[in-house]
Amino acid sequence: MKIFLKKLYLKWKFFWVNLIYLTYTPQAILYSYKRDRADRNISPLQPHSSETGDTPGKLLRAANTETGTIFYFEKAELELTFLTDDFVRITWKPTILPYPYGIERHDWEILEPILNQVENTWTVTSPNATLTIQVQDEGHLKFFDHQHQLIREEYPPEKLNEQWIHRANLRPEEHIYGLGERSFPLNLRLAKEINEKGEPTAEPKKFRMWNFDAAGQYSPGSDPMYLCIPLYLGLHEQGSYLIFYENPHEAIFQFSDTATANFSGGALRYYFTLGSLPKLIENYTELTGHSPLPPCWALGYHHSRWGFGTETQVRETYRNFEKNDLPLSAIHLDIDVMVDYQAFTIDPKRFPDLKRFIQELEVHGVKFISILNPGIKYTRHNQMFLQGQILHAFCKYPNGELVVAPVWPGWTVFPDFTHPMVRRWWTRQYLYLLEVGVGGFWHDMNEPAAFIAWGDRSLPKVTRHFVEGRGGDHREIHNVYGMLQSSAAFESLCQSRPHHRPFIVSRAGWAGLQRYAWVWTGDIESSWAALRQTISTVIGLGLSGIPYSGSDTGGFQGNPSAELYLRWFQMSTFMMFYRTHSSNNVEHRTPWIYGEPTLSILREFLKLRYRLIPYIYTLTWETHQQGYPPVRPIFWLDPTDSNLWDIDDAFLLGNALMICPIYEPGMRSRNVYLPEGEWYHFWDDQKLTGSQTVEFDAPLEQIPLLIKAGSIIPMEEEKTLILHLYPTRERNAQGLLYSDAGDGYETSRIDQFQLQPSFTSATTNQLLPNLLAATESDPIDSSGDGMKENGNSMTLTWEQQGDYAFSYQQIQLQLHGFNLQKAWIDEVEVSCENNSIICDRRFQQARFIALIS
Ligand code: GLC
Repeated sequence: MKIFLKKLYLKWKFFWVNLIYLTYTPQAILYSYKRDRADRNISPLQPHSSETGDTPGKLLRAANTETGTIFYFEKAELELTFLTDDFVRITWKPTILPYPYGIERHDWEILEPILNQVENTWTVTSPNATLTIQVQDEGHLKFFDHQHQLIREEYPPEKLNEQWIHRANLRPEEHIYGLGERSFPLNLRLAKEINEKGEPTAEPKKFRMWNFDAAGQYSPGSDPMYLCIPLYLGLHEQGSYLIFYENPHEAIFQFSDTATANFSGGALRYYFTLGSLPKLIENYTELTGHSPLPPCWALGYHHSRWGFGTETQVRETYRNFEKNDLPLSAIHLDIDVMVDYQAFTIDPKRFPDLKRFIQELEVHGVKFISILNPGIKYTRHNQMFLQGQILHAFCKYPNGELVVAPVWPGWTVFPDFTHPMVRRWWTRQYLYLLEVGVGGFWHDMNEPAAFIAWGDRSLPKVTRHFVEGRGGDHREIHNVYGMLQSSAAFESLCQSRPHHRPFIVSRAGWAGLQRYAWVWTGDIESSWAALRQTISTVIGLGLSGIPYSGSDTGGFQGNPSAELYLRWFQMSTFMMFYRTHSSNNVEHRTPWIYGEPTLSILREFLKLRYRLIPYIYTLTWETHQQGYPPVRPIFWLDPTDSNLWDIDDAFLLGNALMICPIYEPGMRSRNVYLPEGEWYHFWDDQKLTGSQTVEFDAPLEQIPLLIKAGSIIPMEEEKTLILHLYPTRERNAQGLLYSDAGDGYETSRIDQFQLQPSFTSATTNQLLPNLLAATESDPIDSSGDGMKENGNSMTLTWEQQGDYAFSYQQIQLQLHGFNLQKAWIDEVEVSCENNSIICDRRFQQARFIALIS
């Protein structure tokens, strides 16, 4: 009876929800008609039209100039500018350069390359010869590495009216990754066009660059998605390279025997770099910006739902988290807490004393995150609309009429974030929510999305934008719109809370978004296929320079079974944005609704995530310094092993942890191809050898989780720092720990750990030269107890830098893969229990005798 009543209630509720959607239909029809009329003179981008465009013509001469090397062709000029020895900017002229919204660094010391001519072939070589570019007649370009291996070969660019068509040769074995957010296999060369029946065809996928609200149709194979970046990495037997087109216009990319980029307009300006994968990402993020350090709390678990109606419901939820012993760091509030879905409002009827409520949450360690859409309700009763009208802040048609389109508030207008004055105005709007303690902002619908009856789900292409004074239309600005909204929010948070790090999560973005915001992958369906897809999507975002992302755990649409939710949750535990979120027409997805054993298993994973925070936080520091995405493809460890190039059902978190999600119902074991070297099984310390496929059990309580031997993983429990030591015979084990106050910009420290087993002949050590000199004496002999024959000796050295005080009360050293027999901390013998040692102070050196287990 109870179940029957519940079903009846849900049916009734969803009936109303669907009716609400229907209410937008008349506006959507009107708007779609008006948009099409406005855009009637804009021809849609034709993918790879059979027409060939105009090519640059004959190469006449070349010269080094102050801005780079210029090649003069009959009909065009090509400028090659080396930013570093392995990083070059390529611009075809004449052109109108893009406004550099994506670019962070402008002050490159322009290098003077070596220019050579042999008959009609010219070469430019970077000063240290890391990169040589050969320029031939008509604009044919070849890129060689320092060993003079051919890495990439480009055909002359073609100009077809406003369009640019740029082709490059792809090798048969070449793999392609990137393009921002994609819902396809990680290797984009495997992606095929999908037919009307939803089946893949033989035709290589045409990927569209046009940020798109994928709502209601997002499953594997959807394209385009919310966040497109015209960047890709190529990996083949000769090496790897990255190419980034600094052009936000709509484009279509296709990878067959050639890689084709077809831009609807804008400039043909792109950046090329070659070398190891980390180096490619370093160069790209040096150009487009590094992510700031996030506040440490953001690495915890976030709970969200569309449907948190009131303060009472939120209170009940966080209390239930506590009652069930489930850690929680943030609650996200969706549009239903607003007044008539108006930006920057929180309904006082639902939250009568927001400030007090946020303080209550803070006491329980939970942040209040507020959703925010860019559109402003089109009504004289909305203050922001009136202010914006005075400031001419909203986007207009070429005839000066406001662009008004339906979104959640009904008829809506859209701030033009390409105007600095509008960004400043927008920046100020956050202040009062920050004043009451809102912990961060969740930017949604910022593609920008509009409700339509047919056609594109955004603003008319003719919509005018200020573009910092130079003027432009939506064809150029669409893809950077969401990023500019995030830049204004970031600015606001930095200004008004200078002692706190901003937390913003954005649905749309472009190259450079990583400077301001995290990302979630939008309204994915609740299915096993979608769980598996999330792995590629998140890795692909990371390779496109977006390091912090995650999915709606369990999927946005639909009610996942307990098993699907559990497996998705287990995967999300190792992704950077760890959030559950769901639509308003599904059941509230809290761990306790699934009952046992699911609840207990979810709890274990939640707690594991919190124990791993020192490791994960250290990765964020690495990301901040070097741009590396914390979630990485498996081939990151060994790009020379082509067996790894297609793996997209597993991922790395840092270089030490390999995660193999379970992505099918009933799956209780799975195969994994391990990269070279030795590995440990996280759950039972079993040792494994890499470069082979291994089968792992995956009972509901576990997913296969592997640790790369040679790692030291810092974890924490209560106030104890636990260093998990995973030795290897091959080399010293290494570990890093970054710590600071977890927020703000005060002091920090780095602790470096190195475990040197006696069976390695480590004679060089860059990290710790002084300490090593001491450790090279035989620790066993010096103890004088004659155990050398029976055990391996290992020495752990600890070095620190930085001013932040060490904040742990205890240190536990947990040895894996060996049975600990004896141990000394700074030469004083200590007791060992359960393969671990506990000490209450920092030390310089720990020595062990251990037997292989
Ligand atoms: C969009 C968002 C989703 C949100 C919903 C209501 O569909 O992607 O996360 O819950 O809007 O605001």
